[in-house]
Amino acid sequence: MNNIVQPLLEEYQLGDLTLKNRIVMASLTRARATNSGLVPTAIMAEYYAQRATAGLILSEGTWVNPQSIGFINVPGIYTQEQVEGWKTVTKAVHASGGLIFSQLGHIGAGAHPDLQNGEIPVAPSAINIESQSFTPEGFKSTITPRELTVDEIKETVQDYKTAAQNAKDAGFDGVEIHAIAGMLIPQFLSIASNIRTDAYGGSIENRSRIIFEILDAVTEVWDSERVAIKFSPVMLNSVGIVKPDVETIALFKYILNKLSLYNLAFVHVVGPSEDLSDTPVRELQENYFSHFRKNYSGRILANLGFSKDSANAILEEGDAVLVSFGEPFIANPDLAERFRYNLPLSLSDRETFYSGGENGYITYPKATYPD
Ligand SMILES: Cc1cc2nc3c(=O)[nH]c(=O)nc-3n(C[C@H](O)[C@H](O)[C@H](O)COP(=O)(O)O)c2cc1C
Repeated sequence: MNNIVQPLLEEYQLGDLTLKNRIVMASLTRARATNSGLVPTAIMAEYYAQRATAGLILSEGTWVNPQSIGFINVPGIYTQEQVEGWKTVTKAVHASGGLIFSQLGHIGAGAHPDLQNGEIPVAPSAINIESQSFTPEGFKSTITPRELTVDEIKETVQDYKTAAQNAKDAGFDGVEIHAIAGMLIPQFLSIASNIRTDAYGGSIENRSRIIFEILDAVTEVWDSERVAIKFSPVMLNSVGIVKPDVETIALFKYILNKLSLYNLAFVHVVGPSEDLSDTPVRELQENYFSHFRKNYSGRILANLGFSKDSANAILEEGDAVLVSFGEPFIANPDLAERFRYNLPLSLSDRETFYSGGENGYITYPKATYPD
């Protein structure tokens, strides 16, 4: 594909935001908030600014309250100090001509008492999700969490709203609700991790209620076109018992139909990383993104394993209007320019994904471009 006809490189109007291309940097937890207040650090501002040639950057997942913490050195967005830290990040991105949304997350049962002052993590139900939590002493198995009361669920929803306001105060351009596997929201959605018998458990409508309560709260702070949500309906192996089940397809159909009424910035859909043939969601194996397209009338941001060519293809086919790249942005800060000039991509070093300070974080160079 030559440079002129790459849909990826076309400008895109996202509500009142003009994206200079259709390349989105997906959220990447890099664990560089190495301080007890979980405040964004100066190297984070530099890291994000280096990647500002993306049409839009989605920040790493950031915590909406102390109970949501489930990974060391990941920044929060619930204290004034954190907001001040994020201001340096958004200023640096804007000064470099970029746009950035804050990704708001809560890890629920994926947390560990070692990350929560010895407190038992909270979740929809007291069920161990049999996952791993990254604690100061390395990866530890999750434990059986404590069931949230209805009042606590309502407080948690308010914490998302406060975090959304904090994101606005910090100068972000919008927010993305982090609902991919491993987080609190999918723990509510899954019949394996949610056995509640109140308004938040049982039926598909009840299990997905928290999503709409969060969106209703967050859209009181932000125009809906500045609010997005990210789902990974088919993640199979990485998050213990929270996996696709016999209700997943009907569940997402319900959620997407309802989300169509929200006029969101986009729904960010993560594709399958494994073969789905032997799973309850086998019918998603072929034409994965068009299944979501059929049930959702708004914009879809597609993710997982895209290359320049497959990203251009899905945009041309119309199953997505934007494509996000995660891992490629680690070692290719100038990913958009590499696509433009058809340059090879550098490989990232997994050893420095979640530690290493500047090394493997702000040390990846730009490519040399042809004259
Ligand atoms: C090091 C690393 C950290 C990640 N952290 C997050 C995160 O904080 N929030 C999130 O939604 N996804 C996170 N992801 C997933 C990516 O956003 C993306 O969905 C995934 O890497 C697939 O896209 P890719 O194939 O282009 O890498 C992370 C992925 C990697 C490799």
